[in-house]
Amino acid sequence: MKTAVKTKNSNVKVIIRATSEEMSKEAARIFADRIRKKPNIVLGLATGGTPVKMYKELIRMHKEEGLDFSKVITYNLDEYLGISSDHDQSYRYFMNDNLFNHINIKKENTHVLNGKAKDAAKECKAYEDAIKKAGGIDIQLLGIGGNGHIAFNEPGSPKASRTRVVDLTEKTIQDNARFFASASDVPRQALTTGNGTIMEAKEILLIADKASKADAIAKSLEGPITEKVPASLLREHKNVTFVIDKDAASNLKGDYSG
Ligand code: GLP
Repeated sequence: MKTAVKTKNSNVKVIIRATSEEMSKEAARIFADRIRKKPNIVLGLATGGTPVKMYKELIRMHKEEGLDFSKVITYNLDEYLGISSDHDQSYRYFMNDNLFNHINIKKENTHVLNGKAKDAAKECKAYEDAIKKAGGIDIQLLGIGGNGHIAFNEPGSPKASRTRVVDLTEKTIQDNARFFASASDVPRQALTTGNGTIMEAKEILLIADKASKADAIAKSLEGPITEKVPASLLREHKNVTFVIDKDAASNLKGDYSG
């Protein structure tokens, strides 16, 4: 079993687990530890297929071990533009369904960008202000797109970008089509926190499983630090951990053994 090490050329701690289940448990364990240490913690949360098992484990910890979310505050990374919160593919719906409805969090403490906001630019600015007013994100959970995107910051997104409306790439539309009836139903635009917003979190935890993420993980950890691979920018953060399974680690060349 490979364990946490600091890679020689970056600040990133890399934890490689044998299976997606083990990866999810490890990520949940880290989040639970931070919640126990700071009950009124501000969490940054992510959607997609990858965090589902981690959220299940957090729900189990709530039900069986009394993990308390009553003071926890959350901000999600992103939301599709033009989709309302009760649409079953909205990220608000996803969060309620996969986590919030099953724990003792106060719904008013959970925040997801409003995909139906009349003035999207105003919505984005208000979201940035709200995160700052809450004291900033204590720990930010991230998945990774097959093209190295984080949240909906597609390749080429500026390092200093803030919450804004973005166009999705064809790759992301195709990757996310599995959640919709067809690719033509996937929204072409989204509201997303920026690379700059994400980098302000005090701690970052990126999770990935599956061989389909191996190329993006290898580029992020071992390729050049570049806006072309948004997740590579995380190497400039002081407190970031990648928790990945061995399939997602399969293209790494470095030695990450403990
Ligand atoms: C979407 C989300 C990202 C997520 C990515 C990967 O594009 N905006 O936040 O990391 O998908 O999703 P999955 O975990 O389903 O592979």
